[in-house]
Amino acid sequence: MNQEEYFGISSINHLPAILKRIAAQRMFLVTGDKSFLESGASAFFTRNITGIAVKRFYEFGALPRLEDVERGVKMCRVFAPDVVVAVGGGTVLDIAKLVNLFSLWSGSISEFLFQSKTVDWKVKPLVAIPTTSGSGSEATHFAVLYVGNTKYSVANQTLLPSVAIVDPALTLSLSPHHTAVSGMDAFSQAVESYWCIHSTDESKGYAREAIELVCSNLITAVHKGTEESRIAMAKAAHLAGKAINITKTTAPHALSYALTAWFGVPHGQAVGFTLPSFLEYNSNVTAEDVTDQRGVEYVKKTVGEVISFLGCATVKSGKEWIQQLMKEIGLATTFKELGLEKTGAIQKLLDDVNLERLVNNPRGVNNLKMEELLEKL
Ligand SMILES: [Fe+2]
Repeated sequence: MNQEEYFGISSINHLPAILKRIAAQRMFLVTGDKSFLESGASAFFTRNITGIAVKRFYEFGALPRLEDVERGVKMCRVFAPDVVVAVGGGTVLDIAKLVNLFSLWSGSISEFLFQSKTVDWKVKPLVAIPTTSGSGSEATHFAVLYVGNTKYSVANQTLLPSVAIVDPALTLSLSPHHTAVSGMDAFSQAVESYWCIHSTDESKGYAREAIELVCSNLITAVHKGTEESRIAMAKAAHLAGKAINITKTTAPHALSYALTAWFGVPHGQAVGFTLPSFLEYNSNVTAEDVTDQRGVEYVKKTVGEVISFLGCATVKSGKEWIQQLMKEIGLATTFKELGLEKTGAIQKLLDDVNLERLVNNPRGVNNLKMEELLEKL
C-alpha cells in the first residue's frame, strides 16, 4: 500500500486540504491528553478544522492496552466516521490503527487474538500525525497491543496509515526526558533494523540515515531543543519507522516489553537498555549460531558498519559510545540505575521475552545467553 507523506515545519497545514479531498464529514480523532494541547495541535484543530463533525478519543494510559482499544472501538462504531486522524506518540498512533481496523469488523479483538478468527482487514483512511520523534508508527503497517502484561503485534499492510504528516513543530515543546526516551527508541529501531535478518538495501538505506541523524542531533535535541535538531530527530524517527516497516525489530525490542509492562520502564529506555550489549553480542556471531542466511561474514560486516556510523573503530568503543550517549541524555544503563532488583527483573524478562522479535536477531539467542548478558547490566 502506498502512503502519502508530508514532512517539515508547518506541514500540518496540509491537513484541511487532505480532508477536503477525501470529502471527510465525520472525523474520529485519537489524541494524547496533554500532548494534544502542548504540541500546539489542539490550537491548530480549533482554528483550521471546521465544518466537520469531530469525536475525540483520548482517555487512555501510556501503553496501547486491550481494554482501551475496545472502548475506542465501541465509541468509533457508534460515531461511524469517514476518516480517522491520530495525533500523538506511538501509543496514540497504534490505538488509532487498531480502533480503525476493529471498529469495521463484527468480531471482538479477543476472538481475533485467541481464536484465530480472521479480521476483514478493512479500514477507513487514517491520517497519522506524530507529536514525538520516536516510534515511527506513522510509517509502519503494524501496531502494538498489550493484553495484561503480554505484548502482541497486529500486522497487515492495510494498517499502514494512508497519510503521514510529520511536522517537527509539534515536537518543539517535548520535555528533555520525553525527547531522550523517544529518540532512543528511534535509534534502537534503526540499529536493530540495520542488523535484522530481514534487512534489504532499501531498509538499510533508511536505517543508516536515521542512525547518523540521531548521532549528530539527539544530545542537542534533549539539552537545547533547537529547531534544527528537532527537524533532524523527526526525520530520523520517520526513517527508522520506514526501516522497521520492512524488517521489524530484534533482540533489544524482544526483551524490552517485559521491562515496560512489569516495571513501567518507558519503551525507549527499555529498548536502549540492552542495545549496547547486543551490539557486542552480535559482533561475536559464529558459524554455529548465525541466523542470517547471508552468513557469518555478512553479519560481522553489518555490525561493523553500524559501529562505523557511530564514528567508532572497534566493538568496544561502539558499545561505550552508545552507553555514553544514554548517560548524556539521562537514561539508565544498569538495573541499579533503573531502580530494579536484578534477580527478580531478569527472571521476568526471560519469562516474557517476545519470541516473534527475538528470531529476527542475526545471532541466535537462548535463555542462557540472555541471562549472561543481563547479569552484566
Ligand atoms: Fe520501538
